[in-house]
Amino acid sequence: MSQPVPDPGPDPGPDPEPDPEPDPGPHPDPDPGPDPEPEYAFSHSAADEARRLELFQARLDPLTIRRIERLQLSRGARCLEIGAGRGSIALWLCGLVGPEGEVTATDIQPEFLTRLSAANLTVRQHDVRVDPMPAGSFDFIHLRAVLMHLEHRMKILRRVVSWLAPGGWLLVEEPDFGMWQADYDPVWAGHPRAWHEAFPHGSLSQGRALLRQIHNLELAEVGADAELDVVTPGSALAEFYRLSMSALAAPSVATGVLTREEAAALTARPTDRDFLGCGFAYFGAWGRRRFIADHATSRSADDPA
Ligand SMILES: C[S@@+](CC[C@H](N)C(=O)[O-])C[C@H]1O[C@@H](n2cnc3c(N)ncnc32)[C@H](O)[C@@H]1O
Repeated sequence: MSQPVPDPGPDPGPDPEPDPEPDPGPHPDPDPGPDPEPEYAFSHSAADEARRLELFQARLDPLTIRRIERLQLSRGARCLEIGAGRGSIALWLCGLVGPEGEVTATDIQPEFLTRLSAANLTVRQHDVRVDPMPAGSFDFIHLRAVLMHLEHRMKILRRVVSWLAPGGWLLVEEPDFGMWQADYDPVWAGHPRAWHEAFPHGSLSQGRALLRQIHNLELAEVGADAELDVVTPGSALAEFYRLSMSALAAPSVATGVLTREEAAALTARPTDRDFLGCGFAYFGAWGRRRFIADHATSRSADDPA
């Protein structure tokens, strides 16, 4: 978990945060250096984390499956699911691509994934920020709700694209706090800023940022869409948000941005009978690696320049 840091300053606002480092170009990262500190907010060993991720999957899997089906992947395709969480999409892909296909599911915390079983599934503990992956080796790569937690997001996207085979598809799906920040409920609208102060590596606007980033990856057949959560008390979605607020209460109090009472009110808010509020907007953006071999992109981001 990230350590609390001094006040990062004013709300970063709706613009996608720029990468704080120069664009690494087509062959970044020859020496990723020592393992970076974990940036992710939610430990998989926390009591409610399995349930929280299960609710997240139940909300998002139908949307993700619709998006993947539009890409018309072939049976036999080689798939990479990055930051796979509890692995529902990895398992679904195993069925989609059939026994002649392969699915690699990675996570920095692979404990949930190692419990899954499918003949064409490989599970790897892998940090998308620094760990290598063979260049040009996947026909489909998917990330969902991973980049929003990490810094150097454009650099990570370039690494990921280098792992695509020519003609391979990238689908990135990222939540965005924009509507939530602008919600009319004053208790509820306080959460995004508290999260960002506790986890300043993350992005409040990664969903919107995708709409720009996807154009800078030199992909073909680029597209994007989005869907918004409206949280209704008593719903499965309200339980997901309550568990998320509960898990984030301690770090929000530790940074001093919320009092214990405010954190408790925020945690209870999605279940209050008078509540209706905006949650995440879920952006999806996709594109396809061009077939024309090009020296710059046919190397792994991990190969020496
Ligand atoms: C919000 S969860 C989403 C899980 C899954 N993608 C889903 O949508 O159901 C984010 C996942 O990313 C993983 N993760 C965080 N940092 C990572 C990193 N640097 N490399 C790989 N996975 C990471 C977390 O362990 C977690 O399982």
